[in-house]
Amino acid sequence: MNRLWTVPIALLLTATITEPAFAFVDIAPRTRQLLVFLHVFGAVLFLGNVIVTAMWMTIAKRTRDANTIDFACKAVIRADWMFTLPGVILILIPGLLILEPFGGLGGASWVDMSLALFLVSGIIWGAVLVPLQKRMVELTREARELHIALSDRFYVIHRRWTMWGGIATLLPLIALYLMVVKPRLWG
Ligand code: HEM
Repeated sequence: MNRLWTVPIALLLTATITEPAFAFVDIAPRTRQLLVFLHVFGAVLFLGNVIVTAMWMTIAKRTRDANTIDFACKAVIRADWMFTLPGVILILIPGLLILEPFGGLGGASWVDMSLALFLVSGIIWGAVLVPLQKRMVELTREARELHIALSDRFYVIHRRWTMWGGIATLLPLIALYLMVVKPRLWG
């Protein structure tokens, strides 16, 4: 059940490495404008939230107070559901529907590269960041319940979370650059 998020990723990867896909979606210009708007709005939600929550976590961690950090960890998880996930959906679904002028997936290299970067970021989020966040919540809960200071283990996990979170943020930032510049990377 936990690994269900790998299914759409596998489907998209298959689409990318076989025939050009999503090139058939021919949409009326006005509808397409709306989809581009939704796509860019998704990018704002997604990138805005991952950057801002990282800042909140860092500020909370500096207090070294288990209650504050516990609150921040839970808020990050909630914000992911409220903003990151809708952002991902708005990037992906409208993103795939506006591909027709660029020859679909497997058509323009900047699209394929952006999708790959976005998927790798998603894999890091699902496979590394979420488990680390859960572990941080467990450790802060333990410290609160036992009225003890946060263990060194928490700070080790937080450092790991910051490093992987940085990578998972950098990849979609590169995708953002590619989206705007639309360079020909290969082909
Ligand atoms: C983190 C990932 C992504 C971000 C931050 C992002 C952001 C953006 C932004 C800001 C634009 C507007 C660029 C401009 O008009 O100059 C754009 C355009 C576009 N995006 Fe994305 N995007 C992402 C991923 C994707 C993916 C995965 C796809 C498709 C599978 C996609 C397909 C497109 C297309 C086709 C356009 C061109 C729309 C047009 O000019 O008519 N994007 N994207």
